[in-house]
Amino acid sequence: MTQVSAEQLVELAKRRGFFLQSAGAYGGVSGFYTFGPQGAALKRNIEDTWRERFAIQEGHMEVDAPTVLPEPVFEASGHLDGFDDMLVECPECGESHRADHIVEDDPATGIEEAESLAPERVEEVIAEYELTCPTCGTGLAGQAIEQFNLMFETNIGPGSSSPGYLRPETAQGIFIEFPQLAEYARNQLPFGVTQIGRAYRNEISPRKSLLRVREFSQAELELFVDPEEDEPDLSSVADVRARFYPAEAQDRADGDVIETTIGEAVAEGIVADPWIAYYLGVAAEWYQRIGLDMDRFRFRQHRPGELAHYSEDCWDAEGDVSDPGDEPDWIELGGFAYRSDYDLSKHDAHSEEDFTVFKQYDEPVTVEKPTVDPDMSYLGPEFGGSAGDVADALAELAESDPDAFEGEEVTVEVDDESYTVPVEKTGFAIEEITESGEHVTPHVVEPSLGIDRALYTALDHSYREDEIDGEERTYLALPPEVAPTTVGVFPLMDKDGLGERARELAATLRDAGLSVAYDDSGAIGRRYRRQDEIGTPYCVTVDYDTLEDGTVTIRDRDSTAQRRVAVDDLAATIDALVAGEDDFEDR
Ligand code: GAP
Repeated sequence: MTQVSAEQLVELAKRRGFFLQSAGAYGGVSGFYTFGPQGAALKRNIEDTWRERFAIQEGHMEVDAPTVLPEPVFEASGHLDGFDDMLVECPECGESHRADHIVEDDPATGIEEAESLAPERVEEVIAEYELTCPTCGTGLAGQAIEQFNLMFETNIGPGSSSPGYLRPETAQGIFIEFPQLAEYARNQLPFGVTQIGRAYRNEISPRKSLLRVREFSQAELELFVDPEEDEPDLSSVADVRARFYPAEAQDRADGDVIETTIGEAVAEGIVADPWIAYYLGVAAEWYQRIGLDMDRFRFRQHRPGELAHYSEDCWDAEGDVSDPGDEPDWIELGGFAYRSDYDLSKHDAHSEEDFTVFKQYDEPVTVEKPTVDPDMSYLGPEFGGSAGDVADALAELAESDPDAFEGEEVTVEVDDESYTVPVEKTGFAIEEITESGEHVTPHVVEPSLGIDRALYTALDHSYREDEIDGEERTYLALPPEVAPTTVGVFPLMDKDGLGERARELAATLRDAGLSVAYDDSGAIGRRYRRQDEIGTPYCVTVDYDTLEDGTVTIRDRDSTAQRRVAVDDLAATIDALVAGEDDFEDR
């Protein structure tokens, strides 16, 4: 297992076409990256495996919502008010920095996670430890910390009357369509809706190449459940092993990660919510499938102060991307949040639509229901324009606290004003009502995975160096399923018909649905190295024997072992190798 530095990885990524900072011709733009040909293919393959596992295999729907949404959506979701990071500006060079990162980055503070601290506390820590501007070294003590909203604002149409925002998470595009999506699901809970797409955050200080960017891709699943009834079937993930770092262990000096199975984690109460546990299991297998090293992977629970404004419990998937010889550098790869009914209730309250599902009872149920039928000929003259609101408030009160109607008078609050009404004018009564069901606001369980960070970590964890015939080589041990190119096809030399035969073979393999790179330039060893460095798992060489007996050499990237295969069997052989139904060690 070779560890690679971030600098080396970013250099390889640019040189070999995985990713590069965008707009280099114009000096580069911080926080935006372009995926090159290898990176775009790798990203697509990673997204395909996510779609296959989280959407198709789970039987969930997939949608594709706009990236720009109008302001009321984000008023309702809480992002307009609460989606802030702490910004501190250097008084000398004017550079803006994330204040919590400055606190975390100085080991003297002993604070590993400062996002949950109050801004005033962060100001104190900056002063106490005399923390300085990372750009120019000027002391930041005494600088005020500003709450900076991360959303990119725009205008929908000409003028400024209709502000919109680039979505900071794909999730809201799903929540706002819930009434229609529930119809598609025939109002049957639980049901899940997935989406893979871009999200935008105007990060104060983008850093570590793809790891903190301003435009990135998320793969999100919003699972709508009945909190009273729905339970996952944990059997398919019960034996999945992973490392767990609960909140309470993070607060203890001797607290450590616990390695166990998902089944045990639920039984021991390490992961309280079985739905979250289920998706931690699914995700652990998926991260392994796309090439992460499970020895450098863990699930960490959020401590209470870290929870996002919508979240009741949350676990993060974390990957270590440290440089060789350094302490582990854990980055958040994905979040698994119990969002409760937060989002649907907010959109229900802020919009004209109903964000509940109607849950049919097995048998109709007769219940006693407090009702009101206010005498508007009394309320109107008495309360004028507020009479309607008073009537609504009486109806709400009857439902929430029928005992309030036991006296002579009842008082309700409307817009911070008290209105007292004689009970006889409210028409209060307890009626027997037969109900066939009830309206339920579903709760949301959300696995939200960042694709860019997963891709970066897969590259980081699959980087290898070894020596072949006395020559050093670098290769990426990416799983064949996600490698950007599946097979390299080379003629031994581009003469005597070998080139034509190899080009024909490449075309045949492409027709069979494989991703093929054709290369006839330079020594064969160099061609192998080029493919090794982009993680191509198999290379096929057309030589003089091919013209004689119709066989080719197929060579395995990791072991460099070779075998001869009949051209007619080649596509099927590669398919079997990619699917893990065959391998070079079997021979
Ligand atoms: N809908 C929930 C949500 O958006 P989040 O934890 O804020 O949750 C989910 O984001 C994932 O998106 C993160 O775990 C991370 O992988 C990715 N992500 C968030 N901000 C990012 C950034 N600035 N750059 C790259 N990836 C980011």
